[in-house]
Amino acid sequence: MTDVSPLFKPFRLRALQLENRIVMAPMTRSRSPEGFPNAENEAYYGRRAAAGVGLILSEGTTTRRRGSSDDSHVPQFWGEKPLAGWKRVIDAVHQAGGKMGPQLWHLGMSRRPGSGPFPDAPSDSPSGITLKGKKVSEEPSEAEVLDMAQAYADAAGDAKRLGFDCVELHGAHAYLIDEFFWERTNQRTDRFGGSIEKRAEFAAETIRRCRAAIGELPLIIRISQWKSVDYGAKVAVNPQELERWVRVLADAGVDAIHCSQRRILEPEFPEVDGPKGLNLAGWVKKLSGLPTISVGSVGLTSEFTGAFRGEGSAVGKLDETIERLDRGEFDLVAVGRALLQDPEWALKVRQNRLSELRDYDASALQTYY
Ligand SMILES: Cc1cc2nc3c(=O)[nH]c(=O)nc-3n(C[C@H](O)[C@H](O)[C@H](O)COP(=O)(O)O)c2cc1C
Repeated sequence: MTDVSPLFKPFRLRALQLENRIVMAPMTRSRSPEGFPNAENEAYYGRRAAAGVGLILSEGTTTRRRGSSDDSHVPQFWGEKPLAGWKRVIDAVHQAGGKMGPQLWHLGMSRRPGSGPFPDAPSDSPSGITLKGKKVSEEPSEAEVLDMAQAYADAAGDAKRLGFDCVELHGAHAYLIDEFFWERTNQRTDRFGGSIEKRAEFAAETIRRCRAAIGELPLIIRISQWKSVDYGAKVAVNPQELERWVRVLADAGVDAIHCSQRRILEPEFPEVDGPKGLNLAGWVKKLSGLPTISVGSVGLTSEFTGAFRGEGSAVGKLDETIERLDRGEFDLVAVGRALLQDPEWALKVRQNRLSELRDYDASALQTYY
C-alpha cells in the first residue's frame, strides 16, 4: 500500500499554517462570463476546500493593466464587482476550512491582439517583441514598466484586504513576467534587460512592491523554464545560471517558488545528477534555500497540454512523487487536472482510497463542478 502520510504533514509558510502538502494548481476555466467571480465559482473552490486541499491557488486573475487579459470570461482582480466576487470566494473557502491565494496574471505578449475586455488596449511586453521573436511595437518606457509592476502590487494589496491567505505571481509560461526573464522577448538595455540578474529585475521590482502592499502575507512566484511556444526553452541552462536567477527573487523577498514542470519526475539537469536527479523544484530549493512547490502530471500518466487537444489521462502512481517530497526535494505538491476532474481527490488520497481515483477525462474541461 502506498504510504501517503508525507502528503499530510502540516507545513508553515510565514504565519500561514497549511494542514497538508497538497496545493490546487492554478487553472483557468473561463467561467466568469462578466469578468467577476460568481456563485458557481464560489461553489467550485469551496468544494475543493471542503475536501481537504491544503492550499488553493486560484485560476489566473488579471491585473488592472488594460492589456493584461485576452478573455472577458477570465475573472479580473481589480474593480468593484470582481473584488466583491473574490471576497465571496475567499469567504466560501474559509467557511469550508480551506486556504487560498489568487494567482495574479498578466498575459503580456501571449495575449492575442484585439482580444479580451479591452480589445483596443495595446499588449504590454518588455521590448515589443512577440513570443516568436518578432518586433511589433515600441519598447515601453521605464515608467510604463514600473506601472506594470505596480498593477500586480495593487492587486496583491487588495488580496490582503479581502482576507486571502497568500498571493501568487504568475511568472511562468511566457506571460509578462516570464517575458522579462526570457532573452528572446527581453532585449532591453536598461536595468530590466541584459544579464540573467537584470532580466529578473522586473520580477524583483514586482516582488518588492507586492511586499510593501501585503506586509507579512506569504508571497509565491511561479516560474517555468518551458514556454508555451517552446517546451524545450530554458531561461537557465545550468545550475549556476539557475542560482543567479532565483537568488534575485529570494533577495527581493519572495517566500516560496512554484516551479512549473509538465512532468514532476523529469530531472532538470540530468547531465549533472543523472536520470533520477533533482527536478526543477528540487534544484530551486537547493539553490535558493526557499521552500518550493512542485507540479506536473501528479497522479496521472500524461502531461497537461494534451488536455487542450481533447486528450484524457489515465491514473498514475503517486509513490515516487511522495518519496521525493518525503526526502525534502520540495515542500508542496500542486495538482491540476486530477483536482479539476475530482473535487474529492485530496480526501480520497488521505483516506488511501487510491482505487477510487479517476482517470482524467477530456470532457472534464467542458463541465464545471
Ligand atoms: C485547464 C487548465 C488551465 C490552466 N490554467 C493555468 C493558469 O491559469 N495559470 C497557470 O500558472 N497554470 C495554468 N495551468 C497549468 C496548471 O497549473 C498545471 O501546472 C498543469 O496542469 C500541470 O499539472 P497537472 O499535470 O496536474 O494537470 C492550467 C492547466 C489546465 C489543465
